[in-house]
Amino acid sequence: MNWNTLLFVIFPYLAILLALVVTVYRSLTRPFTISSLSSQLLERRKLYWGSISFHYGIVIILSMHLLALLFPRGLLWWNSVPIRLYLLEFSGLALGFWSLAGLAVLVWRRLSEARVRVVTTPMDGVVLALLLVSVITGLWMALAYRFGSTWFTAVFTPYLVSIFTLQPRAELLAPLPWVIRLHVFNFFLLLVAFPFSRLVHIITLPLGYLLRPWQIVIWARRRDDRRAYS
Ligand code: HEM
Repeated sequence: MNWNTLLFVIFPYLAILLALVVTVYRSLTRPFTISSLSSQLLERRKLYWGSISFHYGIVIILSMHLLALLFPRGLLWWNSVPIRLYLLEFSGLALGFWSLAGLAVLVWRRLSEARVRVVTTPMDGVVLALLLVSVITGLWMALAYRFGSTWFTAVFTPYLVSIFTLQPRAELLAPLPWVIRLHVFNFFLLLVAFPFSRLVHIITLPLGYLLRPWQIVIWARRRDDRRAYS
């Protein structure tokens, strides 16, 4: 077994298994710990600017990653016209810098606010460091190895599909520059940290609202009572 197989086959499967098993175990045994434990009462200004920028930026970027994985042909079609390719790449880059700025504010907040520092755990530090590595290497790739949105479909779509279909093809990543491989490996490190950290709050995303039938809210009080309350 070589390093490439260890880092991009064995480790990913262990990371996925650990993330699934521990997340399920944690949500069954300690459901009320599935949260990100807000520290808004301790400091709210830096939290607002940092958290909003980071979350909006990263959620859109990760959705773009997902689209590249799910619809490679559609992405290649979009990129076949240069202006559309530039638009997509420029948007990705701008969102990346936006989330980096947000992340920097969140790190600064944890370091500079004494009250927030007291409630900061070592795992919070690990998560922030891993996120910084993902965002910085992502931006590095976008700047140094253009145009990722196109070559993603030739390298990462088949690699990730091979992982999910249990027919791993780590050789696809072997010739890539180290910064690109670090970007991918760091994703699996984030998966390992996921169930042990505040990252687990991601599963509380209220996606059920998108699927459940709409509700009719019926006022149960008598008309006279309502007037008395208004
Ligand atoms: C297996 C997982 C991942 C793969 C294969 C992957 C792949 C890529 C590629 C190819 C690019 C370059 C895009 C371009 O040049 O247009 C990129 C950029 C980026 N990635 Fe990832 N990525 C992964 C996971 C992540 C994760 C977990 C994060 C953050 C938590 C992240 C954040 C970013 C950012 C901020 C950029 C720069 C903005 C952009 O150009 O889109 N990536 N990624």
